[in-house]
Amino acid sequence: MIYRYCGASGVQLPVLSLGLWHNFGSVDDFSVAEAMLLKAFDSGICHFDLANNYGPVPGSAEENFGRILKRHLSAHRDEMLITSKAGHDMWPGVYGTGSSRKNIIASCDQSLRRMGLDYVDVFYSHRYDGVTPVEETMQALVDLVRSGKALYVGISKYPLELQQRCYDYLREHDTPCLVSQYRASMFNTLARPNLDLAAREGSGFICFSPLAQGLLTGKYLNGIPEGSRAAKDSGFLQRTQVTAERVQAARELSLIAEERGQSLAQMAIQWLLSDERVTSVILGTSSVRQLEDNLRSIEGPDFSSDQLQRIEAIISREGLTL
Ligand SMILES: NC(=O)c1ccc[n+]([C@@H]2O[C@H](COP(=O)([O-])OP(=O)(O)OC[C@H]3O[C@@H](n4cnc5c(N)ncnc54)[C@H](OP(=O)(O)O)[C@@H]3O)[C@@H](O)[C@H]2O)c1
Repeated sequence: MIYRYCGASGVQLPVLSLGLWHNFGSVDDFSVAEAMLLKAFDSGICHFDLANNYGPVPGSAEENFGRILKRHLSAHRDEMLITSKAGHDMWPGVYGTGSSRKNIIASCDQSLRRMGLDYVDVFYSHRYDGVTPVEETMQALVDLVRSGKALYVGISKYPLELQQRCYDYLREHDTPCLVSQYRASMFNTLARPNLDLAAREGSGFICFSPLAQGLLTGKYLNGIPEGSRAAKDSGFLQRTQVTAERVQAARELSLIAEERGQSLAQMAIQWLLSDERVTSVILGTSSVRQLEDNLRSIEGPDFSSDQLQRIEAIISREGLTL
């Protein structure tokens, strides 16, 4: 594994992290979740990305993570960087969602109980909710650190104009923003300005959904396979998002990957990491085999400028962003 310092901090993250958004919930096969988590840890992935609402059902990914931790990894807590978040819908009702102080503080307590932890390494505001003043949310994060429930704080998906305000507020309150998390892949380059700002401000930067939820793999080249995220009712990827344009782009990208001697998934992950300002890419996998495939993304050859140009020409087409 390769590790990078997270922004201007003294803490390092593996360039590949494991996310528990899908495939770790109560609807999923626990033995597969357990095997993936242990394989990840044994491979040097010591950073695990969770959130209150991960499941389904919401909360069950944290519960399963806690079970696996207790069963196999409790002696290794200090070797792991565990994160959680609050801000998206957890339960129906006014206190079950959003970025208010009420939700952030209570949600962190609930996450700690579900995972059986005394503290999380990073607690994130999962999103700007469109209403709560940034100062209210950021102060709640600062107070989580002061109370010892989180060691660091992070933000996720904040629009550019608010991202700067978050950094300023947190720095002024002696709790610099450790890390900023944004959707980023060959099919989504909208966060490039957010990365520029994070890098300038000394925040680490983490890419999520690096494979556009599976579209940047070979899996949808010949239709929507049974059991895939797009085919599942509980999956976030919709069948209608598997468009002819995206499949064609993936087909052309996979030819470049083949030339490079790697899978499309490996190339798509390595491409994100080729920007040294990216601290880590969060993998989401549904099998140990996928995890093994993606782990090899750090072994690929450097990109030639010709390959980078050809990739850019494909991914800058209209209609791909997801
Ligand atoms: N901050 C936020 O708001 C936010 C939002 C979204 C995600 N995240 C984080 O980012 C993590 C990753 O997101 P993601 O799951 O969308 O990542 P992703 O890498 O874009 O998609 C993962 C899916 O791609 C397929 N896949 C992965 N590797 C493959 C391979 N080698 N071959 C074939 N198919 C492969 C699997 O789908 P199948 O199930 O079809 O096999 C897998 O579930 C999440 O777990 C979460 O921690 C954060």
